[in-house]
Amino acid sequence: MREQLEALRAAALAELGDRASAEQIEAVRVRVLGRGGELTEVMRRMREVPAAERPAIGQLVNQVKREIESRLEALQERQRAAALARSLGEARLDVTLPGARIPRGRLHPLTLVMEQMLDIFASMGFEVAATQDVEDDFHNFEALNFPPDHPAREMQDTFFLPGGMLLRTHTSNGQIRVMQHRKPPLAVVCPGNCYRRDELSVRASPMFGQIEGFMVDRAGRVTMAHLKGVLSEFARAFYGPQTAVRFRASFFPFTEPSAELDISCLLCAGAGCRVCKQSGWTEILGSGMIHPNVLRKVGYDPAEYQGFAFGMGVERQALLKLGVDDMRLFFENDLRFLGQFPSFAARSAS
Ligand code: DAH
Repeated sequence: MREQLEALRAAALAELGDRASAEQIEAVRVRVLGRGGELTEVMRRMREVPAAERPAIGQLVNQVKREIESRLEALQERQRAAALARSLGEARLDVTLPGARIPRGRLHPLTLVMEQMLDIFASMGFEVAATQDVEDDFHNFEALNFPPDHPAREMQDTFFLPGGMLLRTHTSNGQIRVMQHRKPPLAVVCPGNCYRRDELSVRASPMFGQIEGFMVDRAGRVTMAHLKGVLSEFARAFYGPQTAVRFRASFFPFTEPSAELDISCLLCAGAGCRVCKQSGWTEILGSGMIHPNVLRKVGYDPAEYQGFAFGMGVERQALLKLGVDDMRLFFENDLRFLGQFPSFAARSAS
């Protein structure tokens, strides 16, 4: 039995040389130490050993087992270290290299422009109200004092929907929607999309954004002077403090008197150029004192209440502000174009 153990040990250790492969090491482990392995077999036969010799043989068994085990472990450890060294050598990792860039989404320039405009009105105390794109004739036209034969009501201008509804042609429906349900004092801006039967072109789009705004209070408390103050303040906050403004008499069915606001041309600073058609001015919005007929339609007594309203196109402001010369660029979703305004939000906040 003793000789057998020693032979077993010698054979195993001989196989577990420094060059043994992982497979060889595993094969020895299974053959010697495994369930039905050689050493297990010897231990099963301990009964046959005379009682007097048993402790000595038992000790020898344990010693052989420990020796083989520790040799196995040493070899495995050495192989792990070698594998690690190999992989470190192969795939050198330079932690100072710049990381892979993950392309990040960003807000559309029209969204940024819209947000900045709303921020300016919010800073003057206006609240923001969302109103509906699918509208009826009353809120889009009738309550806004459009006569029944007004050209804007024609099929060429308006998208009519089955069932008598239409897509709003301006956000002025927001005025009516909000005033119908609330009482003055009110200072509200209604941002949203509008729709007209226009072909997409350099200057026009069948869908476009607008911001409608209005302020109403008891008669005498909100006047044309407030209209001028609020809109001049907006123009300078949005286009820069050096921007000159002028109000020009105009006409809208829902305001009386009506005025359009021009700003000094951003390209030539008023000197006159191709973009401002040599006038030095660019129109940015329509406005006026809310027509008494409009107030009546929402149940306000024009003798008791008074206010002003204004409306402006978002794309138009974006073209001017960002120096873009073609409206279509905003709708093509070409990332090379959209990516040109990444710091716009950060800049506008300062
Ligand atoms: N609704 C007009 C448009 O779509 C814009 C507008 C002009 C709105 C004057 C107003 C206003 O509230 O007073 O062109």
